[in-house]
Amino acid sequence: MPLPHVLLSAAVSLDGYLDDTGPERLLLSGPADFERVDEVRASVDAILVGAGTVRADNPRLLVNSAERRAARVAAGQAEYPLKVTVSATGELDPAARFWHTGGDKVLVTTEDGARRARALGIAAGIVPLGNVLDWRAALEYLHDRRGVRRLMVEGGGSVHTQLLQQELADELQLVLAPLFVGDPAAPRLFGPGAYQGGRLRLVESRRIEDVVLMRYRPTAPGVGERVAAADRHWLALACELAELCPPSETAFSVGAVVVAGDGSELARGYSREGNDPRVHAEEAALAKVGPDDVRLAGATVYSSLEPCARRASRPAPCARLILDAGVRRVVTAWREPDTFVPGADGSGVLAGGGAAVVVLDEYEDRAKAPNRHLEG
Ligand SMILES: NC(=O)c1ccc[n+]([C@@H]2O[C@H](COP(=O)([O-])OP(=O)(O)OC[C@H]3O[C@@H](n4cnc5c(N)ncnc54)[C@H](OP(=O)(O)O)[C@@H]3O)[C@@H](O)[C@H]2O)c1
Ligand SMILES: [Zn+2]
Repeated sequence: MPLPHVLLSAAVSLDGYLDDTGPERLLLSGPADFERVDEVRASVDAILVGAGTVRADNPRLLVNSAERRAARVAAGQAEYPLKVTVSATGELDPAARFWHTGGDKVLVTTEDGARRARALGIAAGIVPLGNVLDWRAALEYLHDRRGVRRLMVEGGGSVHTQLLQQELADELQLVLAPLFVGDPAAPRLFGPGAYQGGRLRLVESRRIEDVVLMRYRPTAPGVGERVAAADRHWLALACELAELCPPSETAFSVGAVVVAGDGSELARGYSREGNDPRVHAEEAALAKVGPDDVRLAGATVYSSLEPCARRASRPAPCARLILDAGVRRVVTAWREPDTFVPGADGSGVLAGGGAAVVVLDEYEDRAKAPNRHLEG
């Protein structure tokens, strides 16, 4: 059964707390990180929080940027991501902002919880999934019935802990804030229990004002997907192509290969190929494949750098070009750093369009090699 890509997002204090015990929500990060969160929200189909967070924080969970909402609408998505909360008891305040802001809302609950929520007059789709809430069933419901391909989970600790322990999380975006809470009664991000899989894989760390964003993959690359020897072969070729790029001080050197489902190469390209100072690798490669080529639907784009999510030099970024070409699988070596476009999330755009994205970061050093002069 396919499940949504589940992205856990949280901010914690240096001593691992999500909040303090005061009545006001503790502000852990600053404006630049809120902007980043807004961008991640805009890239997902749904945002989920536990009932505890609805009760404690009374959050709106909106995409605040009008531009990002307009871009969603232009791409055929709902203006706001679906809002989802989970509760066993159904004991929620019908006046909470969660129900009265943004777009569609769903309460995923138990039979008892559904009765209680209906009695309280909760204004949302109320979905009972049996007598106890099974996370896998909840995710299947969101995927199959609500079309959720990419789900952002914004807490709280109880929900994050369960999803991680049940190996249902595909990604963890953790912001570490430089302050202490120091109150053992405050909520922690992760509670006790059995965590599977040992060490997480750190795929990115980034300074944002005075906080640090860390992105982890809790499980093996491409959860549920075997990374075949062929993927390594083609990604290595993409890294070699990146070496052919005419050097630039203002753009990355990237290589890309488009490979059909039967393993045959359809096209290859690299940045600034043919002396076009603005052409990107994926764009150069896709331009060599006929737009009506039916093999694109089963093809994979291998790109040494994550396809771009935004660019000034062309109307459509590469993530969009890939989706528009009908390609639904991308393998890359290196998540785009903040060098030129802060907070770029090409993988988010791709996943939001239904494409699988596999990051093989053992090739990251090779992908970076022709870009050393851009660092620091
Ligand atoms: N710093 C951050 O990034 C961040 C983000 C979000 C939240 N927070 C903080 O986290 C705290 C809230 O965390 P929390 O752990 O108490 O609450 P939570 O995880 O938001 O919600 C827990 C509630 O969700 C429902 N739930 C969870 N798992 C369930 C399951 N398997 N089946 C049915 N229902 C289930 C239950 O609701 P019922 O009780 O209704 O049955 C449970 O009480 C707040 O202080 C908030 O400020 C911080
Ligand atoms: Zn690009």
